[in-house]
Amino acid sequence: MRLRRRPSPADNSLTVRIFSGIQPTGQKTFGNYSGGFRQYVATQEEGEAFFCIVDLHSITVEYDPAELRESTLDLAAMLFATGLDPHRSTVFVQSHNPDHAEAAWLLGAIAGYGELRRMTQFKEKSAAHEFVSCGLFTYPVLMAADILLYQTDLVPIGDDQRQHLELTRDLARRFNARFGPTFRLPEGRYPAAGARIMDLTEPTRKMSTSTSPEMGKILIVDPPEAIRRKIMSAVTDTGREVRRAPDKPGISNLVEIMSVATGRPPEAIEAEYGDGGYARFKAAVADAVIACLAPVQERYRALRSDPGELERLLAEGAQKAAGFSRPTLFAMYERMGFTRRPD
Ligand code: AMP
Ligand code: TRP
Repeated sequence: MRLRRRPSPADNSLTVRIFSGIQPTGQKTFGNYSGGFRQYVATQEEGEAFFCIVDLHSITVEYDPAELRESTLDLAAMLFATGLDPHRSTVFVQSHNPDHAEAAWLLGAIAGYGELRRMTQFKEKSAAHEFVSCGLFTYPVLMAADILLYQTDLVPIGDDQRQHLELTRDLARRFNARFGPTFRLPEGRYPAAGARIMDLTEPTRKMSTSTSPEMGKILIVDPPEAIRRKIMSAVTDTGREVRRAPDKPGISNLVEIMSVATGRPPEAIEAEYGDGGYARFKAAVADAVIACLAPVQERYRALRSDPGELERLLAEGAQKAAGFSRPTLFAMYERMGFTRRPD
């Protein structure tokens, strides 16, 4: 990526900044592996990278406090198991750096009720829950704060976060125009294949930790037999030809999954399996996913068995993160007309 001149004194780096966030909720799926973990590892090589376990986002819908605590460590172990290098990237927990909550409050002053109401994720989640919290509504403002505090250039995410990233850019532009240049405009990075892995039982809906049924989602920690059972019984369309098509969401999804698991382009997979039938192809997809996840599972088990070490790494990460976010937060306060806070 081409380097542009930084717009503000808070903007203190010449390297490309990378930031992404992931929620510590539930068991992560192959969809998260594809749109999330896999991409984080690929982008950490490109610059100064920050990966944030966004626990403050996870309290916006009903949750269990004891589970949140465990899921936070589960997710830390998964981030390292999928290949994030703690010496290279900063991995930390959102609530350990109070700048995020503060910046979100400040950005709330320029975020419009109307634009937040239009967010697809809000519409879907609020329709699915009886109690709709204020936090669920302002969720994208906190996400914007996460990203903007680090003068982020690149945000590796799945397709479902595209609208939130657009909002982040809108808020950054609005703030810069009203209070003076403060934020860098971040760009989304979406995977070429597998940006949206679909539910195996209902391939018109995304594979989701929270809303997919057990047979619809492949968990990263699923044992091989479970992975095979789920893929072999995935809903496919009529026909036998292995080819992606808009009216064939089932087989299209399996081609994408195969592409993610093997690192081969979807076209090469279509050419290889041709019209050999779905059963043969499904068996090959199951083998590929099992082989792809096996080393991740092994590292995960080893890391998760040492919570003390995970906590130590996260504490280090939070301290480092705060050093980077602080100058931006102080610039925000200053530009918005607050009196200087005592040191
Ligand atoms: P979450 O677990 O919702 O915090 O999501 C973490 C990351 O996984 C985000 O970048 C999402 O865009 C990505 N993601 C979630 N579900 C899918 C899916 N079905 N396909 C591809 N990426 C996904
Ligand atoms: N909203 C994102 C999701 O559900 C998680 C997230 C929070 C995030 N803050 C972020 C992603 C900042 C990228 C950058 O997947």
